[in-house]
Amino acid sequence: MKPLQLAVLASGRGSNLQAILEAIQEGQLQAKVNVVISDKSEALALGRAREQGIPAYYVNPKEYAGKEPFEADILNIIKEYQCECVVLAGFMRVLTPFFVRQAGMPILNIHPSLLPSFPGLHAQRQAVDYGVRYSGCTVHFVDEGVDTGPIIMQAVVPVYPYDDEDSLTQRILVEEHRIYPQVIQLLSQGKIKREGRKVIIIGEGEEIE
Ligand code: GRF
Repeated sequence: MKPLQLAVLASGRGSNLQAILEAIQEGQLQAKVNVVISDKSEALALGRAREQGIPAYYVNPKEYAGKEPFEADILNIIKEYQCECVVLAGFMRVLTPFFVRQAGMPILNIHPSLLPSFPGLHAQRQAVDYGVRYSGCTVHFVDEGVDTGPIIMQAVVPVYPYDDEDSLTQRILVEEHRIYPQVIQLLSQGKIKREGRKVIIIGEGEEIE
């Protein structure tokens, strides 16, 4: 099977990128990260990519007259590297409908809450402040809204009364690093089907009567 060719977009630490690269190295994920793109020159994700010889681009949004030309340049890079799937891994910008329509390939995102609860920024802090007993992470297709696309997979973690944003963030990250490579592998195997808002994972639940 041909590995799924990925473009990873990241603004920061890049721990999800790292988890994806490790899953590839360990043979759990049949994919290849063709290129990493960031809107932040100092993003650790760029360094992680370069260490592994993966082309890494900083695209400075301030050099563009608007969002669309910025996104058009990102799409040019993605297409130049013949990617088949865009993986958002802590990319701190909302992509416009222009990007979503022009991409012509699946766009995945991971969000650190159980969507549709706590979309947007500081999802972990929102969960702690609200006092929920469970939170987690969600991998979803990106649509034209903010954190609104069809949900592919979620993982749940408990939230304790003594948690703060940091402790909950750490607990959720462990699950992020587990499920993001898993979803990409399912996509690479052609096992993910979209039916409107519903996502069907082929083979899932077959053991259940
Ligand atoms: C993660 O919490 C992810 O859910 C959110 O941004 C963060 C990225 O972390 N979208 P990292 O850069 O992958 O370490």
